Amino acid sequence: MQTGKFLYGGDYNPEQWLDRPDILEQDLDLMQQAHVNVVSLGIFSWTVLEPEEGVYHLDWLAEIIDKLHARGIQTILATPSATRPAWMAHKYPEVRRVRADRVRELYNRRHNYCYTSPIYREKVRAINEKLAQRFGDHPAVILWHISNEMGGECHCPLCQEEFRRWLQNRYGSLAALNKAWNTRFWSHDYSDWAQIESPAPQGENAIQGLTLDWKRFVSSRHVDFFRFERDVVRQFAPNARFTTNMMYRFHDIDYYEMAKEVDVVSWDSYPTWHKPTETVEETALDTALMHDLYYSLKNKPFILMESTPSFTNWQPISKQKKPGIAMLSALQVIAHGSDSVCYFQWRASRGAEEKLHGAVVGHDGRTDARPFREAEEIGRTLPKLTQSLGVHRIKQAAIVHDWNNMWAIEGSCGPRNAGMGYWKELALHYNGLARAGITVDFVNQESSLEGYGLLVLPMVYLLQEDFAQKVCRFAENGGTVVVTYWSGVVDETDLCRLGDTPYGLTQLLGLRRTEIDSMYDGELRRCVMVSQPDKTATHASILCEVAALNETDPAEPLMVYDEDYFAGCPALTVHSYGKGQAYYMASRFEPEFYNEFYETACRKAGLASCKPEHLAPGVLATLRGELLFLQNCGDKPATLPDGGELAVYGTAVYQTGETLQRIL
Ligand code: GAL
Repeated sequence: MQTGKFLYGGDYNPEQWLDRPDILEQDLDLMQQAHVNVVSLGIFSWTVLEPEEGVYHLDWLAEIIDKLHARGIQTILATPSATRPAWMAHKYPEVRRVRADRVRELYNRRHNYCYTSPIYREKVRAINEKLAQRFGDHPAVILWHISNEMGGECHCPLCQEEFRRWLQNRYGSLAALNKAWNTRFWSHDYSDWAQIESPAPQGENAIQGLTLDWKRFVSSRHVDFFRFERDVVRQFAPNARFTTNMMYRFHDIDYYEMAKEVDVVSWDSYPTWHKPTETVEETALDTALMHDLYYSLKNKPFILMESTPSFTNWQPISKQKKPGIAMLSALQVIAHGSDSVCYFQWRASRGAEEKLHGAVVGHDGRTDARPFREAEEIGRTLPKLTQSLGVHRIKQAAIVHDWNNMWAIEGSCGPRNAGMGYWKELALHYNGLARAGITVDFVNQESSLEGYGLLVLPMVYLLQEDFAQKVCRFAENGGTVVVTYWSGVVDETDLCRLGDTPYGLTQLLGLRRTEIDSMYDGELRRCVMVSQPDKTATHASILCEVAALNETDPAEPLMVYDEDYFAGCPALTVHSYGKGQAYYMASRFEPEFYNEFYETACRKAGLASCKPEHLAPGVLATLRGELLFLQNCGDKPATLPDGGELAVYGTAVYQTGETLQRIL
C-alpha cells in the first residue's frame, strides 16, 4: 500500500448522520482543516447497507466515498460482519453465539456472531460481494478492514461438531488424543468423539490439554473466518489489500497466525494514561511494547488503526490525555514502525454506548476545542517525518512471546493460581531493553532468530523441543540468551516433561531446576551479588526456583538468594556455550534490576544503544531507520544532546549520522 504519506484520520460513522447533510458537509471541511487523508468507513453499517434481507442500499456509501475522494481523502473500507442487523439475529438464531455455559445469547451488542454458522457465512458472503463489486476497484479504497476486533468464542452445536473434526484431524485417533491429554487422570478417557465437549463451567474444565486445544481451535476459527471474508472480497477485487484490527494484550487469537493472512498488521491502542499506579514513562513503555509486538508479527511497518484523540469512555476512569500526550503518542507510534496515526473516532455519536467517548469533533462541533486543535497540529507535523515512512527497523534483541505458551500458563493449576503475571514478566525485560536504547522485536517458537544478538525467554513454560534446539544453536553461534524461571516445564499438549528441566536447556544453562517455591503477593527474598555479598542487590518475588549447578561444565552464579532455606542458591547465573552465553534468572526481581542487567548484557553482547549519553531518566530513545526520536516521559524538562531543552511530553527528532541533526 504505497500512499507516499503517513495515513492520518480514523473511524468515520456517517451512517449515523444521514439525516443531517449539513453535518456531513461540515465533516468534509473539518477533515481537510485537520489534514485528514484517510477514513475507515462501513465498520458498523450493516443495517443501512441491507435494511431488509436481500435489499441492498450502497448509494449513500458510494456518495460519501466519492466526496471524500474529491477532497483527497482515501477510504479504508470495512466489511460489516462485526455487527449484524436485528432482522438476521431474529430470523436465524444460529448466527447468535452460545456462551460457555451453553446459553444462546439474545440479540445484543457486537463482535458476537457464530463464526461457524453456514447461514452467517452466507449472509456475510452476500454483503461482501456487493461491497466488493461496487468498490473493489474504486481508486479511493486503499485497504479492506475485515470485520472489527475479532475475538470471543462460540460453544454452539455447530462449533462443537467443528471442534471434534478439528481434533480428529490433529490426533487421528482417540487413543492418541487420550494420551496427549492424559485423560486417564480421574478416569476421563474418551471412547467416542461425540463425548468431547468444549470446556464449560458446569462441564469439563480439568483436562488442561483440552482447554489448550480449545483455545487453539477458537483462534483458528477466527483466522478461518478472516480468510473466508478476505477471499470473498478478493474474487471481485483481485488487487485489494487486507487487514483486521488487533488489540492490547489480546488472548483469543494467535496473532502470528492471523498475521500470515493479512497484508498489513493493524491495531487499536488505548493506553490508560495518567493512572495513579503508573508513571507516564511506564505507560509509554507498555504502549511501546505492543507497538513492537505488532511490528514484529510481519517484521514490517504496521498501521495504528484506532486511538483516542482525548479519552475513552470504557476504562475504569476515563481520563483526558494531558496537553502534549496526544502528540507524544502519535510520534511514538511512528518511531516504533507505524505508517499511520488514526483515531476512533472522527465525530462523537449522539446516543448509545459510545456517546461520551472522545472524538476529534465533539458534540459542540468546535474547532477551537483541544482535541481538534491537537489533531490539527499532529496532522501538520506528520509530513515532516516522511523519510521514516515504510522504513524497517534494525534487529537487535528479541523476546519470545508465544500464544500457545501464554494459553498454557494461564490454563494450568499451580504453582500460583493467584496470577502468574505473564505480561508483567514480559514488560520487565522489555522495559530494561528499551530503556537501554535497544530495538526490541518479539518472536514465537516458529520464528527465525537470524540477525538478533540477544534473545529472551521469559516464562516459556511450554517449550517446543525444536525451539529449545534452535535456542541452543543461537547461543552456540555467538548469541546471548536470557532464560527465566518457569521455562521448559511442559510439551505442546501441556504434559510435564520427564527428566531434568528447564527441558532442553540444561546444557545451555549449566544447571537444572530442583525446586520451585511460590510466593504470596508482597512476599520478597533478598538477593546479593556474589561479588558484593554484604549489599542487597534486589529482591526475588512471585516464584523462587532453586537450581543445582551441573557437575560438569557448571554455570557461574552471579547473584544468590540471601534468605530462607534456599539462601546461597543461585538467583542469577551465566554460562558460556559455544561462542555465546546464557543467563538464567531464577525468580522475578525488582524493576531496577532489569535496567542495570540489560545495560551490561547488551554492551557485552555488542548491541549498540541508540540512546545518547547523559539523558535524564524518563527520556525514551527510539530509532527508526536514520531518525532518532527522543521523548520526554519524565516530569521535568530534560537537556538534549545539543544542549537544547526538551519540554515535559516533548519529542525531539534527529537525523543520525556523523553528528545528530535536529529535524523536529
Ligand atoms: C475499539 C473498537 C471501536 C470503539 C473503540 C472505543 O475497541 O474497535 O469500535 O468501540 O474501541 O474506544
